[in-house]
Amino acid sequence: MARPTTVFVCSACGTESAKWHGQCPGCGAWNTLAEEARPDTRKSGPAAGRPAKPVRLAEVKAERHERLSTGIGELDRILGGGVVPGSIVLIGGSPGIGKSTLTSMALGNLQGAGRRTLYVSGEESAAQIRLRAERLPGAALEVPVLSETDLDTVLATLDAERPEVCVVDSVQTLHASALTGAAGSVGQVREVADRITRLAKARGMAVLLVGHVTKEGALAGPRVLEHLVDCVLQFEGERERTYRTLRALKNRFGSTNDVGVFEMRQGGLVEVADASARFVGEATRAPGSAVLAAMEGSRPLLVEVQALVSPSDLVPPRRIANGIDRNRLALVLAVLGRHAGVGVGTADVFVNVAGGVRVDEPGADLAVALAVASAARGVALGGGESPVACFGEVGLTGELRSVGHPDRRLAEAAKFGLDPVIAPRESGASVEAATLRDALRRALGGRSAARAA
Ligand code: TYD
Ligand code: MG
Repeated sequence: MARPTTVFVCSACGTESAKWHGQCPGCGAWNTLAEEARPDTRKSGPAAGRPAKPVRLAEVKAERHERLSTGIGELDRILGGGVVPGSIVLIGGSPGIGKSTLTSMALGNLQGAGRRTLYVSGEESAAQIRLRAERLPGAALEVPVLSETDLDTVLATLDAERPEVCVVDSVQTLHASALTGAAGSVGQVREVADRITRLAKARGMAVLLVGHVTKEGALAGPRVLEHLVDCVLQFEGERERTYRTLRALKNRFGSTNDVGVFEMRQGGLVEVADASARFVGEATRAPGSAVLAAMEGSRPLLVEVQALVSPSDLVPPRRIANGIDRNRLALVLAVLGRHAGVGVGTADVFVNVAGGVRVDEPGADLAVALAVASAARGVALGGGESPVACFGEVGLTGELRSVGHPDRRLAEAAKFGLDPVIAPRESGASVEAATLRDALRRALGGRSAARAA
């Protein structure tokens, strides 16, 4: 009997089934079955392949990769010095964030530098891509494009054209006719990425693969591909806001510590080299504002955290967090109430990282706590004379815990003349506090701290 060429595999328990079911027949989970292609591999015996010869590591030839510069400094830096030939870079982000813009700009620069490029789009018509390219600098209009959704056609074209660098925009819009699922389904996405990867590796083409991520970082897309590709870059920010951050979540050829800040302008994305200066310059010094000395990977970045505490009739009241984790906000509010005498009770609490930047690190806790306390009391931090910078993790018992790289955070704050800096003990900051209550007292001044206590 011939084996079926596709099967449905449950992502939760691994049960295989010849037919699709809404509910997994193995574990009973819903909507976990995804289609997978199964080449016919019936062979004799459990070890049917030919043995290969292992090589001692010291004898392995490690080529130094020549890098292709995209002409976008921040992108090159995050990739570890440019695109590695033959590598697959997945660029994920929500719709409208600027993935097509960034990749068009990169290809334009590469084309301008004499590289062979190709822009494959299953999302937009060639005319739409042209309209975008007209706004972009460099040789964006010189890039050859192919508007196509059929995977076989795309692969055949790539094989015929042999670009050194190509963009495939996006992995969710291409369709492999061997599988029945709709374009964008988990099985399709995996198949598309797998076959593009194999061709690219065989021909030494670098591929920038675009993938959509929903707000929740949802599944039917990049998440299932992370292990297939060499680099995963995440483009974050909010569409309506000016600033976007690009960070490496995975990088086989460089570090994952770097973050680039971009601004969306009329002529495409512009690198923001002096992001701290921008954010500090824009900080308000009003009640509810604190400057966080954050670490974005290995790079210090000063951002303004703003809070608003406002009476509410809603039950439960609103807890809105933009740019920080919602659960971290809940934790900080609970500790403020239990251990620092700042209860926000039934009030609505809004916390926002200015500029649309996202900070995902525990070091942001203290800034959130100070901003909320300052908003709740209506008192500006440090008397409102100059912005107060801070960093530190808030523990469940109300203690302040140290976080990584205090020296770099302090150096960044000093560079922009921020004084005082409130931070945990042994951080070397001008104001060291052991507990959140202590930090509040120092930040809000004696009188309001007495009220807070
Ligand atoms: P786009 O790159 O198409 O986003 P994605 O591919 O991630 O879905 O562009 C996102 C937005 O950027 C779009 O709403 C238009 C805007 N934009 C500019 O503001 N300036 C520009 O020069 C370009 C090309 C786009
Ligand atoms: Mg796009």
